[in-house]
Order: sequence, then C-alpha cells, then structure tokens
Amino acid sequence: MNVRTHWEKIYREKAPDAVSWYRPHLETSLEIIERTAPQRSASIIDVGGGESTLVDDLLARGYQNIAVLDVSQTAIDVTKKRLEAAAENVQWFATDVEKAELPRNAFDVWHDRAVFHFLTTTEERGAYVQQVAKSVKSGGHVLISTFGPDGPTKCSGLEVIRYDAESLHAEFGARFRLLDSVKELHETPFGTKQHFLYCLCRVE
Ligand SMILES: C[S@@+](CC[C@H](N)C(=O)[O-])C[C@H]1O[C@@H](n2cnc3c(N)ncnc32)[C@H](O)[C@@H]1O
Repeated sequence: MNVRTHWEKIYREKAPDAVSWYRPHLETSLEIIERTAPQRSASIIDVGGGESTLVDDLLARGYQNIAVLDVSQTAIDVTKKRLEAAAENVQWFATDVEKAELPRNAFDVWHDRAVFHFLTTTEERGAYVQQVAKSVKSGGHVLISTFGPDGPTKCSGLEVIRYDAESLHAEFGARFRLLDSVKELHETPFGTKQHFLYCLCRVE
C-alpha cells in the first residue's frame, strides 16, 4: 500500500479524535511557535497537519500566513470543513511532502508533528530535508516532533524511527542549529502514554 492509500484509509475509517496522535490542542507546538515567531505575519507551514487543530489555533491567535500540507485529501477536507470560511485564508497542499512543489525561501516556520518519524529510508529522509532546506527562509525555524527513545516502535501500523535530540538533529546537518528540545508524554484517546520529542532548529 502506498503512502497516500494508507493515510486515506485511516482518515476515511476513523473520527478525528479516534486516532492515537489526537490531542484537542497541540499546546507544545503552539507555545514553541508563538515564542519563536511572535510576529503574526510569520509564514508557517504545518507539514502532515492531518486533522489537527493547530491551524485553527494559529488563526485564532491572529497568524495570517498559514499553510497546511498533508498527503491525505480526506484529512484536508475535514479540516477545511471545520474551519468553514476561515479555510479560505489558508494555503493547502494535498501532496506527499517529499514530492511537493513548495515555494523557495517561503516559510519562517516549518512544523511537523509525527510525520518525519515515518521516513524509514535514507532516501526518504534526504528528500524531506531537501524540501526543508529549499522552502524555509534563512533565519527561519524548523520544529519537528517525533517519538522519543522510549516511544512506540509503530504508529498506525507503520514502522517508525525513534529519535533523541542529537540523532534527530544529525538528520538535518550543520546548516540547522539546534536551539531547543522538549519532551512530552502524550496521552492517547485510549488512555495509553507515548513519549514524544520536539526539536527546534534555526536555519543558518
Ligand atoms: C500521525 S499523523 C499526525 C497528524 C498531525 N500532525 C497531528 O499531530 O495531529 C501523520 C500525518 O502525516 C501525514 N503524512 C504521512 N506521510 C506523509 C507524507 N509523506 N507527506 C505528507 N503527509 C504525510 C498523514 O496523512 C497524517 O495526517
């Protein structure tokens, strides 16, 4: 099953709050984004945004330049419907992050919660890092969240790679300066706990 088919099946079969990664609000991401890019004109892309409410919360805080990318059209349609008219103020990319035609030097913040850890080959991770390097401005920031060293080894039936701050930073290389890392114990809607790691890097 290819990436798109897999995720379309998940989102067609499950309600937004019935997936393990669901949180009503992505508080850790919001706090780091607001601290890193307080200016409301900042251009922010949520990569693999799925059906998460990060875009709703950024709009509610007055951010004006938001983009959401996800390989699942179903997830994007659910999010657009929830946002109603506000969806028109968001740029949408229904595509695979590795192949997306993203604008050059466009984003101040690249956010990814629980996508990068699905990239299990060197080629996939290399293509992802190239997309970040191309589309994030110099001086911009990259906030990536993956399962931590004690996190699960699979998510939604797919193998993942678990990271600590050092190994995650190493995937991105010297042009990315590691500024901060935060751990989070995420409680799934089923009451289980998952260790997440957030890494914030600045693009030099
Ligand atoms: C575990 S979910 C996380 C969703 C959201 N970031 C959150 O925290 O609620 C992973 C998301 O990444 C998307 N995804 C997975 N692989 C992708 C890829 N190669 N390109 C774009 N999106 C992808 C999936 O469709 C799904 O919405």
